[in-house]
Amino acid sequence: MQPGRARSARVDDLDEPDGGDLLVQTLDIGICGTDLEIVSGRYGWAPPGGERLVLGHESLGRVLDAPAGSDIQAGDLVVGIVRRPDPVPCPNCAVGEWDMCRNGRYTEHGIKELDGFARERYRIDPAFAVRVDASLEHFGVLLEPTSVVAKAWEQVERIGARAHWEPQRVLVTGAGPIGLLAALLAVQRGLETHVVDLATTGPKPDAVGALGAMYHTGSVADACAGADVVIECTGVGQLVFDVMASVAPGGVVCLTGVSSGGRTLSVDAGALNREMVLENEVVVGSVNANRRHYEAAAECLRRADAGWLERLITRRARLERFADALERRPDDIKTVIEFPK
Ligand code: BGC
Repeated sequence: MQPGRARSARVDDLDEPDGGDLLVQTLDIGICGTDLEIVSGRYGWAPPGGERLVLGHESLGRVLDAPAGSDIQAGDLVVGIVRRPDPVPCPNCAVGEWDMCRNGRYTEHGIKELDGFARERYRIDPAFAVRVDASLEHFGVLLEPTSVVAKAWEQVERIGARAHWEPQRVLVTGAGPIGLLAALLAVQRGLETHVVDLATTGPKPDAVGALGAMYHTGSVADACAGADVVIECTGVGQLVFDVMASVAPGGVVCLTGVSSGGRTLSVDAGALNREMVLENEVVVGSVNANRRHYEAAAECLRRADAGWLERLITRRARLERFADALERRPDDIKTVIEFPK
């Protein structure tokens, strides 16, 4: 795919991979909103000196070859970590917190200046591969999006711990993969969980119901006014302001949606400021994940009901039909590209 050039994605022959000590065979690649942005030419950067970027940042692979004495062995299932520390490195990247990179010079497989995992085989440094339990099988492809929400929840809880913290109610905006996984982690924490989305039919309401959470299609205020935690997963400007206005005193709003700009809203900034100050509210942005979050996410997926996870993967396309996977259909939650096994 040529970043910046819409619909330039194609299957191509590449050289045998070089690089890290682990040789991995790709099994599945998950497609998310970021991939669709890249495919439409609005996001993504090729590796320096080239024009082409291999797609794929949500992956599941099987190790074909591993160095002797490594924790990871041939046959293990692994997921590649998306982000790499910046070359300086900034103080955060220097301590493995590349998800909090301070200078923006991080790189990301399949997104920013590093080829992705949508290759039959790739090589990776074991420090950037996460082993997943064999019992997770093909659900391992959900590890990367789950790592993103594991980080979001960690941020919320760290902020909550600034004072007495006993959250009861959670609102998740958006019932796509990130929203549903954020709701899974809320339910796993024993919290009363509400999810609001536009869809009135299709698999989303059922997926939320099967989790034991409540599904809403109305306004944020109707869905759950006064939530202690809001995980905003749409990036829709109006919703961002709606949840800021509706969160409970002392509550935390975590923004995870990467919006495209260009829409102007009119907001009573003074009233919003007054409420946030007088009620000690916090709005925090959260992106990406470091190794700690991948490991937490692996544990959340291991504890989740396999039947429920299966509901999230609504469409699978074989590699030769990759173009089908790169278009969004109304009832899609997560689409996966299957590689030849
Ligand atoms: C990926 C993150 C990445 C972000 C911004 C998301 O889709 O899941 O790993 O940091 O896009 O590029």
